[in-house]
Amino acid sequence: MKILAGNWKMNTSFEEGYNLIETLKAELSPERLGDVVVVIAPPSIQLTQAVDLLVDYPELAVAAQNGHAGDYGAFTGEVSMAQLADAGADAVIIGHSERRQFFGESDSVVNKKVLSALEQELRPIVCVGEVLEVRKAGKHLSAVKEQLRLALEGVSGDLAENLVIAYEPVWAIGTGETATAAQAQEMHAHLRGLLRELYGDLADHLPIVYGGSCKPSNAAELFAQADVNGGLIGGASLVAADFIALADLLHKS
Ligand code: PGA
Repeated sequence: MKILAGNWKMNTSFEEGYNLIETLKAELSPERLGDVVVVIAPPSIQLTQAVDLLVDYPELAVAAQNGHAGDYGAFTGEVSMAQLADAGADAVIIGHSERRQFFGESDSVVNKKVLSALEQELRPIVCVGEVLEVRKAGKHLSAVKEQLRLALEGVSGDLAENLVIAYEPVWAIGTGETATAAQAQEMHAHLRGLLRELYGDLADHLPIVYGGSCKPSNAAELFAQADVNGGLIGGASLVAADFIALADLLHKS
């Protein structure tokens, strides 16, 4: 399975979100998408708008950008995985580097969220990636593998089939800096090795997507890599023409 996920982050008004989705619906027919699954992650307040607009478009899935690991309770300002599932979300982005960096999400919190999402039958898009200092020190492969191992602690083989992994080098997110195709492939192959350790042959079927300044001008080379099964797209997902071009490139890869 190939996945193209658009992470709108804290952008879009209701009207902008509506227009983006209507354009994607008009352009991205099942024939055009082929084996590509598109996932749209609007701000949580616009989640139900997206779910309602896409009710007859199963090839366009809806994800939340975050969720709380508890089901219900006194957690002012939070939205639980149970509530996201109840709202009609199909997936949830977990452990995005902005959550880790600005909201203090630890590996253990990320792990609890992954387990909760799976319990609620939401497809977790589990984000991992190294900061620049770690890459410069040459420790990126071991550091990111460990991050993923901790995120997946307690995820059993039968639940694992719903996982999507996103490798997002922090130094490439929103910076215009992209990992080279070779850097992405090296990391993705390394992470698939961990998935094989944990889940055997299932590893070959779990999508590992790349994120970090991925755009139409650099995506063809990234998507051509054997272990790159799609993209988690920030900035370019807000421009319908770019996101559609990325879907076409992924389809052709
Ligand atoms: P970017 O964001 O494409 O704007 O770099 C990617 C992400 O954070 O998911």
